[in-house]
Formats: sequence, C-alpha cells, structure tokens
Amino acid sequence: MKKILITGGAGFIGSHVVRLFVAKYSEYQIYNLDALTYAGNLENLADIEKAANYTFIKGDITDESFITNLFEKHQFDGVIHLAAESHVDRSIEDPMAFVKTNVIGTVNLLNAARKLWAKNPEGKRFYHISTDEVYGSLGAEGLFTETTPYDPNSPYSASKASSDHFVRAYGETYDLPYVLTNCSNNYGPNHFPEKLIPLFINNIITNKPLPVYGDGNYTRDWLFVVDHAIAIDLVFHEGINHETYNIGGFNEWKNIDLVQLLCSIMDNKLGRVAGKSAELITYVKDRPGHDLRYAIDANKINAELGWKPSVTFEQGLEITVNWYLNNPDWLHNVTSGEYADYYKKQYVK
Ligand code: NAD
Ligand code: TYD
Repeated sequence: MKKILITGGAGFIGSHVVRLFVAKYSEYQIYNLDALTYAGNLENLADIEKAANYTFIKGDITDESFITNLFEKHQFDGVIHLAAESHVDRSIEDPMAFVKTNVIGTVNLLNAARKLWAKNPEGKRFYHISTDEVYGSLGAEGLFTETTPYDPNSPYSASKASSDHFVRAYGETYDLPYVLTNCSNNYGPNHFPEKLIPLFINNIITNKPLPVYGDGNYTRDWLFVVDHAIAIDLVFHEGINHETYNIGGFNEWKNIDLVQLLCSIMDNKLGRVAGKSAELITYVKDRPGHDLRYAIDANKINAELGWKPSVTFEQGLEITVNWYLNNPDWLHNVTSGEYADYYKKQYVK
C-alpha cells in the first residue's frame, strides 16, 4: 500500500490528477491536502469523494507544524505538489500571497519530506508541478527547452521559479528524490473562470464583454488538462530522479485568434448568428509585464517517456465548452461564491 499526498487537489489541475490516481490505483491511498482558497472547490471531486482509497484533508501548506505533524502521522511515500496561487493578475495585485504559498509552502513540504525520508529514500518521490512561465518570454521564434535559463517576469512566475530552485537545491544538498515538470497553459473542465478560456466562455454565455489585453497578439501553448494529468502520472512513476521535463500541447495560439475561434464555437452551440459572440470582444489596457509568447518543446518527455497529447485542440475545446454548457450549477456556484458551502455540507458534521 502506497500513501500518496496530492496538494492542491481541489483546484483545476489537481482535481483531474486526484480523479485519475483514485480511479487507476486502488492499491494506493490518495490524500488530497487543500486549503480551499477561492480556487479550491470540492464539487470538482464529488464523483470520487466516497472512494475507499481517497481522503480529503483541509489544511494550509504554509503552516509548518501542521505539515510536520501530517507527514509524521501518515508517513507518505510520495508527494505530488500542485497547491499554489496560480493567477498572474492576482500576483500583480498581491505578490506576498504568492511568496507565502508558492515559496514558503513548498519549502515546508520539502522539509517535511526530507525529514521523513532521510533514513530510507528508496522508492520515495517528491514531484513538483511547475509552469513554463518561469522561462520568461519568447520572441517570435524558438521554444522553451529544459535547459532554457529561468527569466521570470511576473510575481507569479518569480514565485514558481523560486520554488523550482528550492526543489532542485534539496535534490543537490540533501539528495531528496524529486522530479519536476514545467507545463504550458492548461484548459478544460473545472477551470476557474478568471483565466482566459473559462472566463470568456462564461462571459459569452452571459453576454458580458470579453476583455482582450493589449492588442491580443500574445501567444500561449494550450494543453488539455486531462493530458497534463496523464503526463503527471507517467512522470511520477517513470520519470528519472532529479530530472526536469517540459510538457506542452504543440499547440500555439495568438489570444485574439483563440478568442475568435471560441466565439464561433459558442455561436454554434448557443444557436446565435455567426459573428454575434465576437461583438463582445473589447480591447482593454494591457497586463503589466505581459509575456509575449510561451511555447514548449515537449520532445524530451515524448522521446524518453512516450507521452504526447491524446486529443487535438478542436476535440479538447469541444469537451470543454460542452462541459461548461452542461454544468451551469458549477459555474453559478463558483461565480456566486456558493461553492464554499459545499465543504461545510459534506465534511463538517
Ligand atoms: P488552481 O488555482 O486552480 O488550484 C490551486 C489549488 O491549491 C486550489 O485548490 C487551492 O485551494 C490550493 N491552495 C492554494 N493555496 C494553498 C495553501 N496555502 N495550502 C493548501 N492548498 C492551497 O491552480 P491550477 O491551475 O490547478 O494549478 C495547479 C498547479 O499547476 C500550480 O502549481 C500551477 O503553478 C501549476 N500550473 C498551472 C498551469 C495552468 O495552466 N493552470 C500550467 C502549468 C502549471
Ligand atoms: P491566463 O489565462 O491568465 O494565463 P497566463 O497569463 O498564465 O498565460 O491568460 C492567458 C492569456 O490571455 C494571457 O496572454 C493574458 C490574456 N488574457 C486576456 O487577454 N484577457 C483576460 O481577461 C485574461 C484573464 C487573460
């Protein structure tokens, strides 16, 4: 029996990782540790919350004594660390929240894992989930590889870069068995509607303006969230200790082209005349320090572990848009804040 701690499992990507591990590994005990910030929503996991191999723990990774005690109590064999503050615009408003969770929280987990595994690191693994944003911004050409120097531009990416450095340092200094991945922009079901794709789907449904930052000529590399979860499973089990892998969708889109595509899909789904949703596009003031382009070279994980995306962007967007249209209650609860009541109803007796 393996005991795996997944942090941030109530969030967007974390919930897909928890679902995959709970369904696939009945021999593992999966512990989902999440502070349930505005981004954490246990409704994301309602379908698996009664599974025998699943336990939810409400707690904050920045709480040192809580984390130390938790590791002593459960004796985890592996950690998959996703808990983070994750939104660039919020990091511009409140950088310290990002330092606390992304840097201090990560170091707390590293310390607890190091202490617990010091005598017997065999078979143990600390898996840190990071982002391509640590590499900074590309110009019109080129791709991020695992050896691209770190050059973060936002408080979010600076905090993630810092946490990545701590993970590597613990590997070098204390021989902590770790793996690290840097992934491109994810999209899919359960994505909080503050990020581009879910925000714009929600605004199209509700006929609100679609705020395109700057001239809209910023480029991102989009990956379907389930394909990220599949890559995480693979790296957790087959990745080489102390290695980094880039994960991406081989799928670059300029924001404005993506928004136009989304508008035409939504016109179709909502029975609107072609071009109706695009009338909502509104150019607004640019994000400060806005990175021009992210694009991942995912050839290492492809060549060494055999991973590649399983769905095309068209297929992934179709699943995503259908999910949002079929789950109006989820969207309502998230935008009204009512999802916070779910924890009380389900877990506080
Ligand atoms: P998210 O914001 O949807 O979820 C984050 C989760 O962490 C939430 O459930 C939240 O409650 C929890 N959390 C926040 N602070 C906490 C704390 N102090 N203690 C315990 N739990 C806490 O984020 P996401 O988009 O699912 O991203 C997950 C991870 O993947 C992050 O580390 C992020 O940097 C990384 N990542 C995200 C993307 C993306 O496109 N979303 C791409 C690459 C990497
Ligand atoms: P976002 O989803 O916030 O992800 P990230 O900044 O981590 O890449 O934004 C994706 C792109 O969309 C980014 O270039 C900023 C842009 N954007 C808008 O133009 N308008 C918006 O309202 C949002 C949230 C993002």
